[in-house]
Amino acid sequence: MNNNKNKSYKIITYGCQMNENDSEKLSGMLNILGYYPIEDEKRADIVIFNTCSVRENADVKVFGNLGNFKPLKKKNPNMILAVCGCMMQQESIVNKIMEKYKHVDLVFGTHNIHKFPELLANAQQSPRIVVDVWENGGEIIEAIPIERKYKHKGFITIMYGCNNFCSYCIVPYTRGRERSREPENIISEAKKLAEDGCKEITLLGQNVNSYGKTLKEPISFADLLIRLNEIKGIERIRFMTSHPKDLSDDLIQVIKNYDKVCEHIHLPFQAGSNNILKKMNRRYTKEDYLDLIKKIKEDIPNISITTDIIVGFPGETEKDFEDTLEIVEKSRFDSAFTFLYSIREGTPAAQMENQIPDEIKHKRFQKLLKKQHSISKSENLLLEGKTLEVLVDGESKNDPDKMSGRTRTNKLVNFIGDKSATGELIQVKITKAHTWSLNGIQIGYAE
Ligand code: SAH
Ligand code: SF4
Ligand code: F3S
Repeated sequence: MNNNKNKSYKIITYGCQMNENDSEKLSGMLNILGYYPIEDEKRADIVIFNTCSVRENADVKVFGNLGNFKPLKKKNPNMILAVCGCMMQQESIVNKIMEKYKHVDLVFGTHNIHKFPELLANAQQSPRIVVDVWENGGEIIEAIPIERKYKHKGFITIMYGCNNFCSYCIVPYTRGRERSREPENIISEAKKLAEDGCKEITLLGQNVNSYGKTLKEPISFADLLIRLNEIKGIERIRFMTSHPKDLSDDLIQVIKNYDKVCEHIHLPFQAGSNNILKKMNRRYTKEDYLDLIKKIKEDIPNISITTDIIVGFPGETEKDFEDTLEIVEKSRFDSAFTFLYSIREGTPAAQMENQIPDEIKHKRFQKLLKKQHSISKSENLLLEGKTLEVLVDGESKNDPDKMSGRTRTNKLVNFIGDKSATGELIQVKITKAHTWSLNGIQIGYAE
């Protein structure tokens, strides 16, 4: 393995935390092979693009970047250029790469990242592009080495795939059917993280509320959280994403009663109108969603709720859009990710009539953004003067004189404080609220 000692790699990751976690596994495997990470992809011996296909602009970016590598590969023919992730699970994309991006050396998908060392060796020996994409995810592969981005917080993927088939969404096609990991494997990964000094874990899945249903010995997501809550050293447990149709009363009680489970739920509602929700195949109504929000807020008063919203789904009328605004007004989300509907080939919504013109989509989008921004700001204003627990990530990205971290409710705090507090849980007094973040000063800090 020493022959790779002076060789470097760079992984460029798009998309969600699931992809981030996969990239950490690719890093883990590369480190074992003897490669070391570098920042500048132009100088790397191996470059990997881990792609996302959830919206069209993600695809466009990847093709642009791949194009930029053509002259670099000419200069350095020994460089290995690999492309993996969700885009590769689509045949038309792989065909396009084989036809137009012949400088790519290796293509693999989301179901076989554990095969990466073998595929890399093949690509290094082969004069032609090596392509290995599996249509389905089989058995879950455990114990893939992993090189984590942070020491004090870590992702744990608890389930793979999705069975929901929301009509706009490509994920069930790129990630396959829902599969849950055995709880013992999740618990031992969390224990290992705790031994290595990790304080916060984030459990990942497309729909964590249905975790465990397909296991031989079924276990609920709420019960998994209770077991994880016992692990010494872990101080915070987060999870995402929750589907409104599957969020159980038990889960609400676990968030309320178990100290490590953080008071934050990411609960995408996507659209407000019952007609659109039906066409989206979301399997809840506007009324169900609003009732759920009410129940959560009554039971856990300091909860933070965030969401995802799609604007301009096919057939969306002005009246439908107003239902979306109504949910935003009534739910008072702490923040929201808002998206313009993007046609994804192969999904049912791509075939639907009445696709909405871009101009209307943009207009509605701006209106929604304005409303949500003012709500985010006023929710944050309620925190001014309060003292909150913050897990410190390090120096602030926007201001080198400040530190930054996250509250239990996942709010970003930039604060004046001790530089050596990185990775620690500290108390911060909030001095100013903004739309996207809070400012503060560390309790007990003297300059
Ligand atoms: N499993 C998660 C989200 C996965 S994708 C969930 O169900 O909530 C993340 C977000 O991307 C979705 O919540 C949705 O808001 C958005 N999204 C997915 N497909 C999209 C599309 N075709 N156009 C626009 N936004 C989309
Ligand atoms: Fe996509 Fe719906 Fe599955 Fe989320 S729940 S990944 S939006 S199909
Ligand atoms: Fe994108 Fe795949 Fe995640 S499509 S959002 S990287 S599951």
